[in-house]
Amino acid sequence: MRALARTPAKLAVQHERLEVVAGSITDDQLDLDRLLDGVDGVVAMLGDRVAQQDRLVNTEFVQRLVPAMRRSGTRRFLYQAGGLSAVPGRRLALPLRIVRRTIAKSYDGQHRDNEAVMRYLDEQARDLEWMVHRAGIGSDGPSRGELRRSRHWISIGTFVDCAAYDLRMLWDDGAVQTWDGSAYARGR
Ligand SMILES: NC(=O)c1ccc[n+]([C@@H]2O[C@H](COP(=O)([O-])OP(=O)(O)OC[C@H]3O[C@@H](n4cnc5c(N)ncnc54)[C@H](OP(=O)(O)O)[C@@H]3O)[C@@H](O)[C@H]2O)c1
Repeated sequence: MRALARTPAKLAVQHERLEVVAGSITDDQLDLDRLLDGVDGVVAMLGDRVAQQDRLVNTEFVQRLVPAMRRSGTRRFLYQAGGLSAVPGRRLALPLRIVRRTIAKSYDGQHRDNEAVMRYLDEQARDLEWMVHRAGIGSDGPSRGELRRSRHWISIGTFVDCAAYDLRMLWDDGAVQTWDGSAYARGR
């Protein structure tokens, strides 16, 4: 497994099969061909709320990543967006629009970026096996259980549960070219 990290020192885990590459997705010199060498699938859990206020940082990266995936033969791609990011051609439900305009206002740029990524994948990358996870994350706390794919509900999960879900979902054939949310099983 290979991880690209802007700040590798933040990574608390080490594993003999984990290779950490220091780098930024905004670096034009980032060697995507080298990063994708021998890679079957890519998971992107990227966010820079401040930079995304002025620029579609993630979209610019995904527009470089997708051609590199085609070159290397990497088929699978999971992109983590948010529950407040609207899928192409659909408006968010009114309560979610209100949340986005009020308490989540400072994340609006991030959601616009996520929405541009989804439009790009929808319109220009249908040849790849991508999937978008519209996550709801509330804390960095311990696991609250197993998240499952859900079209109709998004639980407020923890970072660790979303990360585990992303890794599972990457190899779920049923999730290909979907942009569903994730929810804990009832009763949790
Ligand atoms: N947090 C939430 O409450 C929440 C809820 C629902 C959905 N989401 C979605 O989840 C996704 C990730 O958001 P997040 O809140 O997890 O973001 P985050 O915690 O702010 O950062 C995610 C990661 O992106 C890395 N990163 C940022 N800019 C980078 C760059 N230029 N090059 C390489 N790595 C870079 C960060 O590295 P550094 O540590 O170096 O900054 C960090 O490891 C977004 O699409 C967001 O909409 C988040």
